[in-house]
Formats: sequence, C-alpha cells, structure tokens
Amino acid sequence: DRAIKIAPSILAADFASFGAECAAVEAQGADWIHVDVMDGHFVPNITFGPATCAAIRPHIKGVMDVHLMIAPVDPYIDAFADAGADVLTAHVEAGPHIHRTLQAIRGAGMKAGVALNPGTPASAVAELMDMVDLICVMTVNPGFGGQKFIDMTAKIKTLRDMIGDRPVHIEIDGGVDPKTAPLVAKAGADVLVAGSAVFRGGSVSDPAPYGDNIRAI
Ligand code: DX5
Ligand code: ZN
Repeated sequence: DRAIKIAPSILAADFASFGAECAAVEAQGADWIHVDVMDGHFVPNITFGPATCAAIRPHIKGVMDVHLMIAPVDPYIDAFADAGADVLTAHVEAGPHIHRTLQAIRGAGMKAGVALNPGTPASAVAELMDMVDLICVMTVNPGFGGQKFIDMTAKIKTLRDMIGDRPVHIEIDGGVDPKTAPLVAKAGADVLVAGSAVFRGGSVSDPAPYGDNIRAI
C-alpha cells in the first residue's frame, strides 16, 4: 500500500530514555521507528550499535527501521537481525559489494533497504530493483539531525519509475517537515523519516506535542 508512513528518527529523542521515547511516539501515531546507526567512519558522527537496538526492541510494537551509516556492513548483519530489526538499510556507497550485502540482509530474515547519499544518482541502484524492499533517498548528507533539506524531487521521480509495479518503499530521510513532506510525497515517496520535526516541543513526560508534530507532517 502507498499510504504515507511517518517514521520518527530517535536521533532527535532523549538518548537516556529511548524505550520510553519509542513507546511515546508510537502512542502518538508514529507508523515506524527509525533508528540511525553511525560509526564515525562512514559518517562523521557516532551513535550506537546492535546492543542498543536490542534494548529498544521490546519498547516498539511496530516496525523497527534500522538505517546503517557504517562501513563495512556485512560483519554486523546477523547482530542486527538478532537485535530484532525489521528493515535493515545499507548505503550503496558503503562498499563495493552492495548486491551481496542485500542478499545477506534478506537471507537473515529482514527486509532489505538501500540508501543513496545526495550526491549519488538513481542509476547507482538500477541493478538492485529486485533485491530491495525499500530505497532511502537522503535529503541531507548523513551524520546529523536538524540539517537543511536538499531537494531530491527529480531523483525520487526517477526511482519511482524504475521501481514500476514492484512493492518497494521510497523513504525520505533528512529535513522532512510540514513544508517539505508534501513535495516528496507528491514525487513518489511513501515513508517519511522525521527527527527534529517530530521530537521538538515534547518530552518523555509530555509527549503530546509529538502527536501534533506527526499530524502536521
Ligand atoms: C541523518 C539521519 C536522519 C536524521 C534526520 O544522518 O539519517 O535519520 O535523524 O533528522 P532530521 O529529521 O532532523 O533532519
Ligand atoms: Zn536515518
């Protein structure tokens, strides 16, 4: 189904309260929970790894959508499967063997995603259309929340054409807010990741603004 899903990124949540933050944002209407794993090597920031994902898992009822900003990916695929990831997304720029990586992700029982940095053309994933369940179009350079949206509308449209009638999600990640969300949805995106736009103004003890923010997107 092509209904728009909102996937709050816990990169903008309280790092000391991930379990409660995930439960709160789900109760406020989040469709998926987006989990940003960074290694300080593929991107210039470090977050957390599979142990933290495993700790978060029991606090999420729905889809745990894990975005790997790490290189290499392959040595850690089983650890993220064990941690309970439903969708595991690797960057096409993370290594020379993305085809093998996507096979391994599906082989470990997860949905496979491939992410493209803003400087990477749609053609980079042309041979992968039957190997992915999700294509993540980065609309910021990955590494940090709260950055300015980069317009990738043309790339989104190209990818939607390339996907054809396959059941593949197009996810948008970076700078999604009430102003940019309609642009990417119109171009063909159906999963919208939003960090700062969802978590701003609320807290674990008063999560009501999370719901207002989600509905505003
Ligand atoms: C960026 C991450 C995003 C980030 C988005 O590297 O992949 O998921 O949390 O944050 P906002 O919505 O604040 O741009
Ligand atoms: Zn992300």
